[in-house]
Amino acid sequence: MSRPYELSPSILSADFRILGEQLTTLENAGVRWLHIDVMDGQFVPPISFGEPVIRSIRKGCSLFFDCHLMVEEPARYIQSLKDAGADGITVHAEACRHLDRTLAEIREAGLKSGVALNPATPVSCLDYVMDKTDMVLVMTVNPGYGGQRYIDAMSRKIRDVRRKLDEAGYPDVPVEVDGGINAETIDEVLEAGASVIVSGSAVFRGDIRANAQKFNEKIAACAHRS
Ligand code: DX5
Ligand code: ZN
Repeated sequence: MSRPYELSPSILSADFRILGEQLTTLENAGVRWLHIDVMDGQFVPPISFGEPVIRSIRKGCSLFFDCHLMVEEPARYIQSLKDAGADGITVHAEACRHLDRTLAEIREAGLKSGVALNPATPVSCLDYVMDKTDMVLVMTVNPGYGGQRYIDAMSRKIRDVRRKLDEAGYPDVPVEVDGGINAETIDEVLEAGASVIVSGSAVFRGDIRANAQKFNEKIAACAHRS
């Protein structure tokens, strides 16, 4: 089995005055992915950042840019995000009128495609798009803000998505989790079947290097077991 097992730190919680330094710290700590939360003030209330920031941090950074679009009709931004340096684009099922086509367009652009599900969105909306999906993002909080509490019912949803992908013949498609993942919740999500772990506040608060290494130890141990 070769599905990715990765920590994907969310720069939403970074210190933007010293963002470049913090990214270097993550790379030196053995991190390979970076989670980039793009928000449009429509799909979610806040506005975060977009292409100019991505283009800027792309210089001198070899991390996999895991772009999470909390944006209405995200198909409009595939090409410009690719040009800015995105490696993967994850779109919300709730934000796409034509989810199937949007996923196809992400792959046609040469990027990895992801589908994100809000906490209340049923897993059945994956039923007819799994052949176009490289990753499923289970939101474990309602999107829009860092530092929220993990929604307990999402452990069952992670299991349901993992089982659905396995039964449909996609064991290499990872389940990513995002929101409220910290020292208290990491074991539970790994045990439920998540393998790409987003964390914002629990990575960037305090000692970034030590935080990333602690997460990576748990993720590597889980990869080893499976
Ligand atoms: C929330 C974002 C998350 C956020 C997670 O809408 O998608 O990526 O940064 O932050 P924490 O890990 O602090 O819950
Ligand atoms: Zn996110």
